[in-house]
Amino acid sequence: MRFCFLVEEHYRNDGMPLDVVRRLTEWGHRVDVLRPGGSLLDLGALVRSGQHDAWVLKTVSGGPGLGLLEAAAGLGLTTVNDARAIRPVRDKAQAAVIAAHHGLPVPQTWAAADPAEFALIPQQHYPLVVKPADGSSGRAVHLVERPDQLPTLAADLAGEGLLIAQPYIANPGLDLKVYCAGGELFATERTSPLHPHHPHRERPVALSAEVAAVAAQVGEVFGLDLYGVDVLLGPDGPVVVDVNDFPSFRQVPDAVDTVAGAVVRLARSGSAWPSVPGARLVPSSAALGGGR
Ligand SMILES: Nc1ncnc2c1ncn2[C@@H]1O[C@H](COP(=O)(O)OP(=O)(O)O)[C@@H](O)[C@H]1O
Ligand SMILES: [Mg+2]
Repeated sequence: MRFCFLVEEHYRNDGMPLDVVRRLTEWGHRVDVLRPGGSLLDLGALVRSGQHDAWVLKTVSGGPGLGLLEAAAGLGLTTVNDARAIRPVRDKAQAAVIAAHHGLPVPQTWAAADPAEFALIPQQHYPLVVKPADGSSGRAVHLVERPDQLPTLAADLAGEGLLIAQPYIANPGLDLKVYCAGGELFATERTSPLHPHHPHRERPVALSAEVAAVAAQVGEVFGLDLYGVDVLLGPDGPVVVDVNDFPSFRQVPDAVDTVAGAVVRLARSGSAWPSVPGARLVPSSAALGGGR
């Protein structure tokens, strides 16, 4: 098969996805790597070629790659993940609305551009976690114990755009990072950046049926095939605090083979398009019985 990988500068030297590219090549596939933002792209040539079986995106939030993936999807090409599934999880405010609507266990979430606005959140919801809606890698995530601390966040959050606030979900200091590659689920635990005094830990762990069901539902709700879910084991059970498209798969045993295998299967099935929620509900002419 022929793949086109969009890899932004941030991941230029990263094992994931470049090891996946290497493995696909070893398996006899042809992989072109495009570096949007890092090299000159002849967009006309891309449009004319139509030569790839699937386009795969590994980019950073806010980077130029997503627009290109969406353009490829707009031409009817298969993309991994489904291009329409990515924006809703890159924006944590949007993700919170969709997740809550579908009954996923997510914290109550407020959004504002100025952290001072969060002073209106009733005291009973403290402590709060305040973070940028398009944040990643723990950037500018703050634990706020009292409303009078809100003004002190302004400098760190300046220029971050829309912010969200959520009640802090009590947890022992470890995130469960659940990874999914084409339906296969894996779990690791990693020290939460909000618990800097917890001894650093990062290792594969067993996945409970309860957390596996939540992670699988995240994939269905958002229409994602390669994704990660940050889960906290709170006092009332698992809570989803973050969803990421094409995550690191760090600490997942055989991650390169697993992800490369999933990319091939997803590209073959071309499953990305119909996996978006609602798409399956649109009756096809076949389902309607042709002429009726
Ligand atoms: N509501 C919350 N309650 C407790 N901890 C949280 C909450 N939201 C985020 N965290 C902690 O902060 C970390 C980073 O937040 P996250 O939403 O995953 O943003 P990022 O996109 O930066 O990874 C999480 O992995 C988790 O440890
Ligand atoms: Mg996260």
